[in-house]
Amino acid sequence: MKRDPEAFLHEELKNLYDANLNWVIRHLEGASQAHTKVDGKEVLMLNTNNYLGLATHPKVRKAALDAIEKYGVGAGAVPVIAGTFDLTKKFEEHLAKFKEVEAALIAQTGFAVNQGVIPQLVGKEDYIISDELNHGSIIDGVRLTRAKRGVYKHNNMEELEKQLKIADSDNARRILVITDGVFSMDGDMAPLDKIVEKCEEYGAMIYVDDCHGEGMLGKGRGIVSHFGLQGKVHIEGGSLSKGFGVFGGAVAGSKALIDFIRNKSRSYLLSTAHPPAIVAAADAAISVIETEPQHVEKLWENTEYFRGKVQDLGFNTGNSCTPIIPLIIGEPAKAQNLADLLYREENIFTTPIVFPMVARELSRIRVQMNALLTREDLDYALNSIEKVGKKLNII
Ligand SMILES: Cc1ncc(COP(=O)(O)O)c(C=O)c1O
Repeated sequence: MKRDPEAFLHEELKNLYDANLNWVIRHLEGASQAHTKVDGKEVLMLNTNNYLGLATHPKVRKAALDAIEKYGVGAGAVPVIAGTFDLTKKFEEHLAKFKEVEAALIAQTGFAVNQGVIPQLVGKEDYIISDELNHGSIIDGVRLTRAKRGVYKHNNMEELEKQLKIADSDNARRILVITDGVFSMDGDMAPLDKIVEKCEEYGAMIYVDDCHGEGMLGKGRGIVSHFGLQGKVHIEGGSLSKGFGVFGGAVAGSKALIDFIRNKSRSYLLSTAHPPAIVAAADAAISVIETEPQHVEKLWENTEYFRGKVQDLGFNTGNSCTPIIPLIIGEPAKAQNLADLLYREENIFTTPIVFPMVARELSRIRVQMNALLTREDLDYALNSIEKVGKKLNII
């Protein structure tokens, strides 16, 4: 039989379409911010990770443009082969100071951080312990290791302790505990203070993926600062693409950790350095967070207002305690219809989150607050969500 090398693509796509599990990608005709244009219409955007609105901040834009004038557009090579820009060094020092650690480095993306760093920290003599709801990039990073693995129920400290005991009695050479800081589908937070306490008892390394916490928690510095745990968390993985409003990933920790990653992480060693405009923009974004606290304050003011009102309407927001606010509906079709009607009839852009990203019975739309939303925007959104929620018998 002669093989059709691409037949599986059509079969798998058909399965996705038949099960309504395919992604529809919309096209932004403006910035990813509160008010923008999507596929030809003006919308209120409630699903951007640009939490602080820094993607269009004048100082951030200017820094990017100035860097293009001086350095051009591309970085030309991986840093270890052809060097890195002076502005990258300046940015990394600035980031370390901002995160209150000894050293930091810029990486391709938050995703690449997890692929590049986790496999270098542990090997087959070691043990990784991971929260069951950790981001897919952590799960993939863990799969790249040969370490033994244990998973604990979401945020469950008794289960974490059980896993630590198993790893300890297994005489693991190293134990690595990994958790998201802010969980991106639920908007809740890891109890990092308790995790640190337990890990200290067993001499375990602590790795927090702070991609959503940065720009949001701890006056923008992230979850470690929020809990006052500076110096106690060994590896902070992060993203420059969310709260910072730019693009890229980052790692923060001890000088030894950062030197180790520069020498060992395959995604750092084998992938081209960041464009100078991006580095300059990220540097400016941090300066804005340091000097203009109003953006983080506004994000939280919007969050408290919206979460309270949407709960008053009868929506289940789960354990959300951050600007990520899921409206947990249950049935996948209802969640999809809610997002669809909000978009088509109310010009509100939200994201339905269904299986396999969350369990089928926990289907939801995920709403994300941002600092550029006005009280008028929030009232408009709440009114629309109430109207459509009633129409679909959700509330
Ligand atoms: C917890 C977590 N880690 C990593 C990532 C990936 O970050 P980036 O978009 O910078 O690749 C995300 C993005 O959604 C995330 O939510």
